[in-house]
Amino acid sequence: MPLLTIRDLKVSYSVRGLFRNRSETTAVDGVSLFVGEHEALGLVGESGSGKSTLGRAALLLIKPRQGSIVFDGVDMLDAADHRNTSAIRKFRREAQIVFQDPYGSLNPRMKVGRIIADPLYVHGIKDRRLVKDKVLKLLDLVGLPASAYDKYPFSFSGGQRQRISIARALSIGPRFIVADEPVSSLDISIQAQLLNLFREIQEKEGVSYLFISHDLRTVAFIAQRIAVMYLGRIMELAPKTELITRPLHPYTRLLLSSVPSKDRHPSEQREQADVPVTGCVFYPRCASALDICRETSPRLREVSPGHEVACFLYENK
Ligand SMILES: Nc1ncnc2c1ncn2[C@@H]1O[C@H](COP(=O)(O)OP(=O)(O)OP(=O)(O)O)[C@@H](O)[C@H]1O
Ligand SMILES: [Mg+2]
Repeated sequence: MPLLTIRDLKVSYSVRGLFRNRSETTAVDGVSLFVGEHEALGLVGESGSGKSTLGRAALLLIKPRQGSIVFDGVDMLDAADHRNTSAIRKFRREAQIVFQDPYGSLNPRMKVGRIIADPLYVHGIKDRRLVKDKVLKLLDLVGLPASAYDKYPFSFSGGQRQRISIARALSIGPRFIVADEPVSSLDISIQAQLLNLFREIQEKEGVSYLFISHDLRTVAFIAQRIAVMYLGRIMELAPKTELITRPLHPYTRLLLSSVPSKDRHPSEQREQADVPVTGCVFYPRCASALDICRETSPRLREVSPGHEVACFLYENK
């Protein structure tokens, strides 16, 4: 049984317009996927495709409009609706997040030792000696000196701050971590060090990841399987090597052929994509579009073992 199974998840934002009129944006539109125990699933797609929304909804940080999220055999949306507090508390312990921004995500007024210990205190672990020992072990695990314990976040670089965030996410011993663009804001050389750390942690601690990035090479370094997202939908999902050597979806092919821009922050690359009302969301940009693509939205289908694609080019095959 997978650790996390998401079925037909829809997440919408209600946006207030200039004239107080409300409109809905569907950021995640019917996504189904699973993350296995000890597995890293990569989630890739350009800015605005709904990656963060999906990651946050998977952790119950945003309420989905529709769908189900089953973690370790328990339907979490059901648990939330029925105020099943013990199930929710277990989930809050076992599922953690590492954010993109190493500056905004750490409380500047707390010392590093306290920041990392916080989840332990929140979950009722009170023995100070035990907590300190645990925090020192975590500092070592993420490659920071023990002296970091008594310092404030401002004394650390972006890369070191991400190490602090990782230590905090690990402190309570999670089984699942959503890592949302955790290296995107860092220099290339620091990115490589942190990606190695993520990999090491997966091996040592046996955690599962939903590892989000707009850069296919970054997710390919970490993930065993990769899901490609475009405008709220999964376009293709396959084992890593299969996806890279045998990409099927025209959008995956486009991602593989495009040279990633190294010097722009992903949120600065946000451009308003052209969203068609009917048909395939990728239709307006697709070089291989058929007539049917304009009218009907393709479903994600398995075309070979473990390889799913949502594209009419592969229907009837
Ligand atoms: N808080 C919000 N309120 C309203 N709309 C939002 C909100 N957050 C995201 N959106 C919209 O939802 C869609 C998906 O956004 P999301 O941040 O999930 O994408 P992303 O793939 O993580 O992008 P990026 O690579 O820039 O981080 C976008 O159209 C975005 O404008
Ligand atoms: Mg995002």
